[in-house]
Amino acid sequence: MKNICILLSGSGTNLQNIAECISRGEIQNAKINLVIADRDCYGLLRAENLGLNSILIKRGKTFTEDLVNAIPENTDLIILAGFLSILNESFFKEISIPIINIHPSLLPKFGGKGMWGNHVHEAVLKNKETESGASVHFVTEEIDAGNIILQKSVQISENETAETLAEKVHKIEYEIFPEAIKKIINFID
Ligand code: GRF
Repeated sequence: MKNICILLSGSGTNLQNIAECISRGEIQNAKINLVIADRDCYGLLRAENLGLNSILIKRGKTFTEDLVNAIPENTDLIILAGFLSILNESFFKEISIPIINIHPSLLPKFGGKGMWGNHVHEAVLKNKETESGASVHFVTEEIDAGNIILQKSVQISENETAETLAEKVHKIEYEIFPEAIKKIINFID
């Protein structure tokens, strides 16, 4: 059984989807051992409603240290599911298990600092792209630049807005995130 620790900052619909995939047996040999939020957010309430252990670690001077200390020792995989804090060098010095993230664009396009939430979709539309999508990738010190595990695209329609695009992208996130998690779980010893 692999233990997954999920870090989030927002609504937590990906958390909910992953938890449901585990309950339905679509992701096997996995257990969410802890959900960590870096701010008060709906994702924490979802975690509670799902019966998952959860904690809030507020950002501040000792954030990295607190986060490192909070990650249970038996964790095999860390999943960032809409986690907005940037993991720094000291974090990577302490944590050596795989970390994966989902990003709402076809990386390497529209990734990096400032590219989160609707900023991503607005930039995609401004650039007159004909498609966008979502990417699951390994997390490294460089923002959104780790190796890509899975990607899927969506077509952009004529009257697309950042909101409609966000909705389309979320839908494919619910497909590719569990798929990527399955791959990684099979890969971890
Ligand atoms: C997703 O769009 C994901 O790509 C990004 O943060 C969002 C999280 O959504 N990293 P939710 O909180 O899981 O609904």
